[in-house]
Amino acid sequence: MTRAVVIGWPIGHSRSPLIHNYWLRHYGIAGHYDRQPVPPDGLGSFLRGLAESGLAGCNITIPHKEKALAHLDVVDGLARRLGAVNTVWVRDGKTHGTSSDGQGFLASLAAAAPGFSIQNARVLVLGAGGAARAIVAALVDAGAASITVSNRTRARAEALLSLGPGIVGASDGAGLAHDLAACDLLINTTALGMTGQPALALDLVPLKPSAVVADIVYTPLVTPLLRQAQSRGHVIVPGLGMLLHQAATGFELWFGRKPEVTAELYNLVARDIDPDHRP
Ligand SMILES: NC(=O)c1ccc[n+]([C@@H]2O[C@H](COP(=O)([O-])OP(=O)(O)OC[C@H]3O[C@@H](n4cnc5c(N)ncnc54)[C@H](OP(=O)(O)O)[C@@H]3O)[C@@H](O)[C@H]2O)c1
Repeated sequence: MTRAVVIGWPIGHSRSPLIHNYWLRHYGIAGHYDRQPVPPDGLGSFLRGLAESGLAGCNITIPHKEKALAHLDVVDGLARRLGAVNTVWVRDGKTHGTSSDGQGFLASLAAAAPGFSIQNARVLVLGAGGAARAIVAALVDAGAASITVSNRTRARAEALLSLGPGIVGASDGAGLAHDLAACDLLINTTALGMTGQPALALDLVPLKPSAVVADIVYTPLVTPLLRQAQSRGHVIVPGLGMLLHQAATGFELWFGRKPEVTAELYNLVARDIDPDHRP
């Protein structure tokens, strides 16, 4: 039986087992996917022992995504550029690492906003943490015309400028109304709007009607930002789609089948987040 795990510290909250075990059942694959708590001082020994452990690989989440690079045999160009790994697989006795967050975001955008083309789009990204870094790199590679990053801590926004030539602005929120009016795609990558956090205080009035609004926060499933966007008639991209689509990369590497993100899977995980969720 092929087995994989997600490691983090703590790891009890992870919904990855729900996703991967759904796919394993759905495709009739003999495999299993578990959570494995790994404390910070155990990361090196876990990853160095992975090739011999019998596991096909692992997902890596907070707080290990950045530190993992140093303990892998092969790290692909994308993960090196991002300085972070979220997917590890074993091939020929060696551990390999990549990052699937950016691809996961683009796939969720394509699914939720099928008429939207990244090429030539002007994008405004709120936040400049690890998730923003992965998304900005993916947007650059997908041919976005321009990307402006706005973050509370300006230096972190500026650190993203080196990810590609299309990143035109880094700010701490000054000029936001102008940036909003100019953008075709708005993405919240900050933790604001998450259950237990303050809502993102942003008035979407300047946005043009055709602008698409994405939020990578997925608890709640529809954040206050997305609700405001929905009520103004914008196409919205909820964060759960990114979580599901980023998982597909690991599943294919470990279990040998490219899985589909179906409405059934979306509703299964959505109900786990919000028991009142209705399709
Ligand atoms: N849907 C998915 O698959 C997916 C994947 C990854 C992450 N996420 C979600 O995305 C969010 C960010 O994750 P991350 O890994 O990028 O975290 P991170 O590296 O810790 O970055 C957090 C970001 O949020 C900003 N922020 C936090 N509190 C704020 C506040 N009170 N006011 C203004 N800005 C604030 C930070 O600004 P500063 O730089 O100023 O601190 C930073 O830009 C989390 O909610 C996470 O759950 C979703």
